[in-house]
Amino acid sequence: MPAPVVDSAYRKNIEKLRRDLRAFIAEKNCAPLMVRLAWHDAGTYDVSTRTGGANGSIRSEREYTHGANNGLKKSIDWCEEFKAKYPNLTYADIYQLAGVVAVEITGGPTIDFIPGRKDSVACPPEGRLPDATRGPQHLRDIFHRMGLSDQDIVALSGAHTLGRAHPERSGFDGPWTSEPLKFDNSYFKELLKGGSEGLLLLPTDRALVEDPKFRPYVEAYAKDEDLFFHDYAVSHKKLSELGCTAELYGSSSKGASDVSSSTVLAQAGVGVVVTAIVVVASYMYELKRKVASK
Ligand code: HEM
Repeated sequence: MPAPVVDSAYRKNIEKLRRDLRAFIAEKNCAPLMVRLAWHDAGTYDVSTRTGGANGSIRSEREYTHGANNGLKKSIDWCEEFKAKYPNLTYADIYQLAGVVAVEITGGPTIDFIPGRKDSVACPPEGRLPDATRGPQHLRDIFHRMGLSDQDIVALSGAHTLGRAHPERSGFDGPWTSEPLKFDNSYFKELLKGGSEGLLLLPTDRALVEDPKFRPYVEAYAKDEDLFFHDYAVSHKKLSELGCTAELYGSSSKGASDVSSSTVLAQAGVGVVVTAIVVVASYMYELKRKVASK
């Protein structure tokens, strides 16, 4: 793992915020909205222009008033309290940590969180988030634009195991599962059933079982919750870092794996220097001993 790019005071506040968020989200039962906030901040990323992403820009009025963000202002306001308490933390880190903690405390997987995202107020064009009335090609257009894969699309859609749709926000109504405050693989089980009384299936959810490339992932996740948790944690981490590689890993041209290899190279360099010092020191010691014995 690469060394964190933030200082120890920053890291300490991240850990304090993590504890505060656990208590806050549990008390308010607001895990679903926090996950949606984190996803909508990050999901505007465009890999070809390197714009949008997990940069806290959803806090600006121009962006949170986009139709897809209906209902999120409430969660943005909650996060203002945490920003006031920990002013050195960025909004981008606060939103993404809230998403990670929300998944964790509802019974989902632990998601690796690396702090250090930068804030921006550059508002991405409206229309970068998915339209729930569309089909598989639309999902691919939207998620591949972020640099994410078919597998990421299916794994991340599993977040609909949490929460519900609200008619006044999206025009849709109802939860996807019978326990919307529990993170498990029941979303995929419901998808394979093709719909149950009182539960919601968006056209984009249905697309996951209808498309021949998406469907095998749905079947695998419905059968094996551990596999879903593993893949979800990987995809959610990617989502939470969209557009932030440079900030989190210390160089604009490097991804995590490049950083790991440069860390290995740096360590090898240190090893060579230490060996050289030891060799020179023992040579000097030997020389001194010879001189002394003469
Ligand atoms: C695949 C494309 C997606 C579409 C079309 C979509 C669409 C929607 C819609 C229409 C709602 C209802 C909003 C409301 O009325 O309150 C919703 C809620 C939600 N979405 Fe998605 N979503 C998608 C992907 C995702 C992803 C990738 C995540 C997270 C990783 C996510 C997490 C959530 C959560 C947790 C809620 C519940 C919010 C609440 O209960 O207040 N969604 N989504």
